[in-house]
Amino acid sequence: MRFDIITIFPEMFAGVFSGGIIKKALEREMVRIAVHDLRDFTEDRHRQVDDRPFGGLEGMVLKPEPIFRAVEAVREDETSRVYLLSPQGRRLDSALAKELASERQVILICGRYEGVDERVVEHLVDGEISIGDYVLTGGEPAAVVVVDAVSRFVPGVVGKEGSVRNDSFAEGILDFPQYTRPREFRGLEVPQVLFSGDHKKIERWRRKKALEKTVRQRPDLVEHKTLALEDRRLLEEIQNERKDE
Ligand code: ADE
Repeated sequence: MRFDIITIFPEMFAGVFSGGIIKKALEREMVRIAVHDLRDFTEDRHRQVDDRPFGGLEGMVLKPEPIFRAVEAVREDETSRVYLLSPQGRRLDSALAKELASERQVILICGRYEGVDERVVEHLVDGEISIGDYVLTGGEPAAVVVVDAVSRFVPGVVGKEGSVRNDSFAEGILDFPQYTRPREFRGLEVPQVLFSGDHKKIERWRRKKALEKTVRQRPDLVEHKTLALEDRRLLEEIQNERKDE
């Protein structure tokens, strides 16, 4: 899988992919990331990428020509997917990340300033992607988030497939809590059940804790979800315990 990032600040990407799992994935050529300077696709002496908005407003708008040229230069074929990072886009979630991980090439255009000429949105891209309901100074940090979240779903990138499968959101609920040594730290003890050696019991406890955390912190995730019988039992237990508190 290949990512192409089109930006006016290519230097912002130096370093962010040079550690951890993404670095390994790059070394093993499971993913490729190419960063392109939008200014390389200008044709004027000043390498101008933006201009004042028609209709008169403050600020600058990214011009269409360099963006069209950049996409046309880097796209491999008609199967390549092109997205603009913008707060107006479809919100990135686990389902979208997984969807993108099955593409061969994903081209990400980083928006800037007050906006991007609407002809890019209407006639060039397959869609817009937002990483949340807040406005960044530009699409660059969002592109990093997209590359990271999507790469995790590329087969082989995350060591054990299980680590992706057991993740928060893979199943629509949050993660269970994890503990490591020491068993006791400043008087804080690791829950007894984890030392019981009873795997069924541990699994049930983890599921219950995950459900409990979800109900407390992200009730929206379980509100309209059809839960399995065992999950409903666990939720009932949680609700009864809460009443006793
Ligand atoms: N550019 C500015 N804000 C953004 C956001 N929330 N998501 C994606 N790109 C953006």
